[in-house]
Amino acid sequence: MSEELLPGTTPEGGQVATVVEDPLGDPGLPPHEHRPTDVDPRAERRAERQISLLFVLSMLATIAFIAVYVGVPKDRIEYVFPLGDVGLQNLLLGVTLGLALFFIGAGAVHWARTLMADEELVDERHPAAADEETRAATIAAFQVGAKESGMGRRGLLRNTLIGAVALVPLSGVVLLRDLGPLPERKLRSTVWEPGKLIISENTNEPIRPEDIIRGSLVFGKPEGIDGTEEHPNHERLNELAKASILLVRLSPEEIKSRQELEWSHEGIVAFSKICTHVGCPVGLYEQQTHHLLCPCHQSTFDLSDDGRVIFGPASRSLPQLRIQVNSEGYLEAAQDFAEPVGPSFWERG
Ligand code: FES
Repeated sequence: MSEELLPGTTPEGGQVATVVEDPLGDPGLPPHEHRPTDVDPRAERRAERQISLLFVLSMLATIAFIAVYVGVPKDRIEYVFPLGDVGLQNLLLGVTLGLALFFIGAGAVHWARTLMADEELVDERHPAAADEETRAATIAAFQVGAKESGMGRRGLLRNTLIGAVALVPLSGVVLLRDLGPLPERKLRSTVWEPGKLIISENTNEPIRPEDIIRGSLVFGKPEGIDGTEEHPNHERLNELAKASILLVRLSPEEIKSRQELEWSHEGIVAFSKICTHVGCPVGLYEQQTHHLLCPCHQSTFDLSDDGRVIFGPASRSLPQLRIQVNSEGYLEAAQDFAEPVGPSFWERG
């Protein structure tokens, strides 16, 4: 570590010599160690073979990608632990493409670390410190300024100035409140709960299973969500929008998913009415195919198969509401939705 004398000025105008350590002194380099591939031709050939193998594996993964695209049906669903039911083609395309890119990356890194030139180069750095004359002039100017401002003598002024400057950023912190209250779990849950009656949006009456006939689409909402104390008006619209559902009747044999069948009642299934793309109400039902179309961007959901997306920009299924019948014969919720309804806000980071 190099040292040098820095001349300064005392408050009385005299000269003082200050010892300053150069904080950017040259620490030097450790001795260079050669890699095995630099000194051993056999290690070099071995590394070359390993790298080539990685690139060959990438080629095989790309060929597998094409084979999956051509050979695996788009609509084939398989159970894969721990993902559950997934589209087999999408899964395999993702895995093979990921492997192809991974092997190229791994080969490139291996190549760079073992075979590319391993020279240590010195890039001289310019001295970062100002020359002695400039430093002395700066210190002198600072000391004159400090003396003229009276910062040293006027402790009260100095301390209150420090306090004022330290508190100013608090204004910005307080303004963060304008962003509104934290959503907490509001985006992840709705007012549906076990035993909550399903009310028809048309008749405002509770719904019996026999009210839902094949081919018709019935819109429902939870009981007790009409601007009462519990749900004042500004909250009501939000809660109503999140909890809105649609009910259709299928034959139990037409339902392809075991969970959907268990969550239905005699083939009557209830799904969220809010599109999982950007939240439009879905409502165009094709009774022959049991497809439900969102009018905004044409996302299409299969109501006989967990509300799965079969077309369009939506990226996840319509959430299903588990329903049952109470002792008086009316349809009610068996639980809240098992996942958030509406657009997939948590996937946007
Ligand atoms: S909001 Fe439904 S497809 Fe876009």
